[in-house]
Amino acid sequence: MSSLYGGVSGRRVTVRDLAAAKERGERWPMLTAYDAMTARVFDQAGIPVLLVGDSAAMVVYGYDSTLPVTVGDLLPLTAAVVRGSARALVVADLPFGSYQGSPAQALESAARFMKEAGAHAVKLEGGRRVLPQVETLVTAGVPVMAHLGLTPQSVNTLGGYRVQGRGEAGDELLADAKALQQAGAFAVVLECVPADLAERVTTSLSIPTIGIGAGPATDAQVLVWQDMMGLTRHPAKFVKQYADLATDLDTAARAFTDDVISGAFPAPGHSYA
Ligand code: KIV
Repeated sequence: MSSLYGGVSGRRVTVRDLAAAKERGERWPMLTAYDAMTARVFDQAGIPVLLVGDSAAMVVYGYDSTLPVTVGDLLPLTAAVVRGSARALVVADLPFGSYQGSPAQALESAARFMKEAGAHAVKLEGGRRVLPQVETLVTAGVPVMAHLGLTPQSVNTLGGYRVQGRGEAGDELLADAKALQQAGAFAVVLECVPADLAERVTTSLSIPTIGIGAGPATDAQVLVWQDMMGLTRHPAKFVKQYADLATDLDTAARAFTDDVISGAFPAPGHSYA
C-alpha cells in the first residue's frame, strides 16, 4: 500500500497500516469522536484513527476531569462512532478504574468495548505499571494504544495538568515507552511532554508515537475535536484552532430566536400543505 490515504479504501484502517506508515515515515492525524455524525464527517475527511476518549467526561458529560466517566458511559458513544464511520480504526479509551485493578479486569473491560461497541482497539494510561495489563490484552488479541506523559486519569497524583518528562523523568518515560512496545502496544500517545523528549521517543521506537502537546516530531498528532473547532472555552497552549463553532452556533441560535419571535420561521417552504 502506498499511503494511509490513497491506499486504504473499501476497508478499515488496521494497526498493520499504521505500522507500515511509520516505516514509510508518513505522518497521520487522529481526532476524538463521540457520536455518529461527527465520526462520519471525520471519517469521510480521511482521518484514519478515531479515538473515543475518556475526555468525553468533560466534553460530552460536563465533568471537570476524566475520572467520573465509566465503561457504561463510554460504550454507547463508542458504538455510535463505529456505526458512523466506515474506514477509520476506532480506539476506545478504557476509563479510570476499569483496568488498573488487574489484567483480568482490563480484559473484561476491553472485551466489552470490542463485543458490545465494535471497537477495534483500546487505549490505556500508564507505563511499566500497566505492562501486565498490556501483555494480557495483546495475548488475547486486543490491539493496545498506550498513553504516557500527562495521563489525565492520574491528575491527582501528578498534582495538576502540567508538562511531564522534564529532566531525568524523561529517561523514565523513554524506558516506559520501550517497555510498552516490547509488551506489544501498537502505538503510544505522548501528552504534554517536551518536544525534544517526544523526538527521542519517536526515533527510539518502531511503533508510531501520537503527540498531543508533544511538538512536531511524533509520527501522528491527536486533538480533542471540540478544542480544535473552537468549542472549548480555554483550550491548552498546544491547541491550534481550525474553526470557530462556538461563534457559529451562537450566531445560528440567535438568528433562529429572532426568526421565531418575528414569525419569519417557519416560512411557507418549511410548512406542509
Ligand atoms: O481522552 C482523550 O481524548 C485522550 C486524548 C487527549 C489523547 O486521551
